[in-house]
Amino acid sequence: MTADLLIHNARVLTCDPSRPGLGMVDHGAIAVTNGQIAWVGPEVDRPRATRVVDVGGRLVSPGLVDCHTHAIFAGDRADEFGMRAAGKAYLEIAQAGGGIRATLDPTRAATDAELVALLEARLDAALAGGTTTIEVKSGYDLTVAGELRLLRCVATAAARRAQRVVPTLLAHLVPAERSSDRGAYLREVCDQLIPAVAADGLATSVDVYCDEGAYTLAETRSILEAARARGLAVRAHVGQFRDLGGAELLAELGALSGDHLEQISDTGIQALARTGVVAVMLPGACVQLRLPVPPVERLRRAGVPLAIASDLNPGSSYCETLPLQMWLATTHFGMTVDEAWLGVTRHAASALGLADVGTLASGARADLIVWNCDAPAQIPYRYGAGTQLIEAVYVAGEPQHRGPRAG
Ligand code: NIG
Ligand code: FE
Repeated sequence: MTADLLIHNARVLTCDPSRPGLGMVDHGAIAVTNGQIAWVGPEVDRPRATRVVDVGGRLVSPGLVDCHTHAIFAGDRADEFGMRAAGKAYLEIAQAGGGIRATLDPTRAATDAELVALLEARLDAALAGGTTTIEVKSGYDLTVAGELRLLRCVATAAARRAQRVVPTLLAHLVPAERSSDRGAYLREVCDQLIPAVAADGLATSVDVYCDEGAYTLAETRSILEAARARGLAVRAHVGQFRDLGGAELLAELGALSGDHLEQISDTGIQALARTGVVAVMLPGACVQLRLPVPPVERLRRAGVPLAIASDLNPGSSYCETLPLQMWLATTHFGMTVDEAWLGVTRHAASALGLADVGTLASGARADLIVWNCDAPAQIPYRYGAGTQLIEAVYVAGEPQHRGPRAG
């Protein structure tokens, strides 16, 4: 065979489950044809190719998958960051009218063009940090028409880019102006918003923020059941502040993921493990809000797959990139370097229901990163340098970003 592209003289971190650990191929090469990986193996067996790139012994990994972001919003909440730094709690600020509600007004006031531009700037920053697949949730408008508008803006930005964007409808909370007719609002979400999203193909999954101050467990069930009835995948933010039994519900509904999980019972952990629901760790938000860390050791022992995401949002985690999250996961959550890598690649892809990204194996999309180092631990270890450590990011076999030190 003659491939379109051969990347060789590489330490290939495949994350391929058919190989042990991280699936390292030490003196390896990758062949790409039609934007897909055609072959991965030892240097000595490499096939011919039209274009050949010698990476000089550098580490080559799958493109990173950020499986949990709220990347479409306007405005910022730096003032709240200051208040929290001075000791105020996130929920206290939210109860006083800040929090998610403070992002609604600027987002509702922004034009489509402004929202798309803001989102694209964040997608560029994510790409520069190695993110080739990124999930983007709606959730900062909270009216039926407004949530549909946010998802249409996500589709506009996605259509312009090589990077894969995975849109999610997020039922974030009941807006203050609807707090007196909560039941009617919930029916609008289930009977109008979800069917419209499904009919127009605006999202592949529905997420609910199930926690103190947001949706109750019963409300979460109604929303997720409405989503499933329309053929959409389901997931939820659960146990960030309080365990309402969300993990058990997600297991019952065959959800893709349960996210946050600072608070989760043993029954909840067993339920996730039994049904293969991915636990998404959000260390940036957890550490910034000074919450207790999730029970990683108990999740690991039960065999729950662990993903790691940025939770990019204007409140608890204004961070577009994953290498810093890998550092927090290893230093603050007690995850190993191997777990951190699988958390931003293969397990993150599972959290999105995607089988063709997150690994370097034959048939996968040729999304990959050439790093300016040779060992997997270097990326979380040199935590201030995540973006500078990148030499090049390829999406579907084409270089889409070159790092600051690339020649
Ligand atoms: O995942 N927990 C809910 N949503 C976000 C925070 C959103 C915000 O504060 O604007 C999160 O942490
Ligand atoms: Fe979130």
